[in-house]
Amino acid sequence: MAASTGSGRSGRPTLAVVGATGAVGTVLLQILSQRADIWGEIRLIASSRSAGRKLAVRGEEVEVVALTEEAFDGVDVALFDVPDEVSAQWAPLAAARGAVVIDNSGAFRMDPEVPLVVPEVNPHAARMRSRGIIANPNCTTLSMIVALGALHAEFGLRELVVSSYQAVSGAGHAGVRTLREQLSLVAGTELGTSPGDVRRAVGDNTGPFAEPVALNVVPWAGSLREDGWSSEEMKVRDESRKILGLPRLPVAVTCVRVPVVTTHSLTVHARFEDEVTVDRAREILATAPGVVLFDNPAAGEFPTPADVVGTDPTWVGRVRRALDDPTALELFVCGDNLRKGSALNTAQIAELVAAET
Ligand SMILES: NC(=O)c1ccc[n+]([C@@H]2O[C@H](COP(=O)([O-])OP(=O)(O)OC[C@H]3O[C@@H](n4cnc5c(N)ncnc54)[C@H](OP(=O)(O)O)[C@@H]3O)[C@@H](O)[C@H]2O)c1
Repeated sequence: MAASTGSGRSGRPTLAVVGATGAVGTVLLQILSQRADIWGEIRLIASSRSAGRKLAVRGEEVEVVALTEEAFDGVDVALFDVPDEVSAQWAPLAAARGAVVIDNSGAFRMDPEVPLVVPEVNPHAARMRSRGIIANPNCTTLSMIVALGALHAEFGLRELVVSSYQAVSGAGHAGVRTLREQLSLVAGTELGTSPGDVRRAVGDNTGPFAEPVALNVVPWAGSLREDGWSSEEMKVRDESRKILGLPRLPVAVTCVRVPVVTTHSLTVHARFEDEVTVDRAREILATAPGVVLFDNPAAGEFPTPADVVGTDPTWVGRVRRALDDPTALELFVCGDNLRKGSALNTAQIAELVAAET
């Protein structure tokens, strides 16, 4: 790809991070500081509210600039970590100015002209970007798809039944703030013992969630469709089908919010073409890039969000063959929703694009 000059790193491509101040943007700056330094300038962009703020990336303080068309001048790759409506408006403008856009919002994921890319599963798709935009999957899909992609390559996936246990940071800074405030409101009380007591203590402070999330689980994420499914559940279904290239794969998903700060977990029932063995499934998962098999319940070994948070891989435990179907596996999967679930995957896609000749 054409490379523009960067500050002190001339000849290397220029990267823009749009939404650098957000929950995903914050983790992305850490990831860019940890991975191989292939970029020239890294330009930080957010709303005009944040213009002039200084954020650290690669050990340097960089000033945030406001989102304008001119902010994309000389940019080779632009990572968008902003709300859907901001991406819908600005990603095509950035692409028109010559940047390859990697968008983390839901604005383009199901656009047939926009590839939906997970580098461990379908890296070839990143080149098929007629709009100059590559979409990054939703964090819930991403938290399981690397492990499923590896199993699908060997066994041939035929059906998925999934339940998610989603962390509050999936709803951005506002989600984390809400859980922390609710926890302080219920701390040291006997709440959680009679109907409605947690709701009364929390009052209107439910933030982006449908119900109190402290001392609770909430079987809801996203917006309501007429048929009763939520938008988040449809994302996992539609995106899994697109990434795996299985447009008619039966997928049933129930999304649940839990009082975890960061790291999504999922239970997965995956049915395959033929009989499967746990031994072979474990071999595949133990050697798949980006997957860690952590599965020895006798020794108390299975992944939990408290241990997985801050790590890059998809962690898999509780691998069992279904009791009533020798073609199906049951798994418990955990992935940090802000790392592989969003920022890390976009950084990996950006590296794929930068490596194109
Ligand atoms: N959180 C997750 O686990 C996750 C996972 C996958 C995908 N995503 C997606 O990633 C995107 C960002 O999510 P987040 O959780 O990081 O949200 P967030 O914490 O609310 O951050 C939003 C970011 O967008 C910027 N922004 C908002 N309105 C803007 C505007 N009009 N012009 C320019 N910048 C604007 C904000 O800048 P200011 O600080 O200046 O307001 C901030 O940097 C969303 O599309 C989300 O759906 C999130």
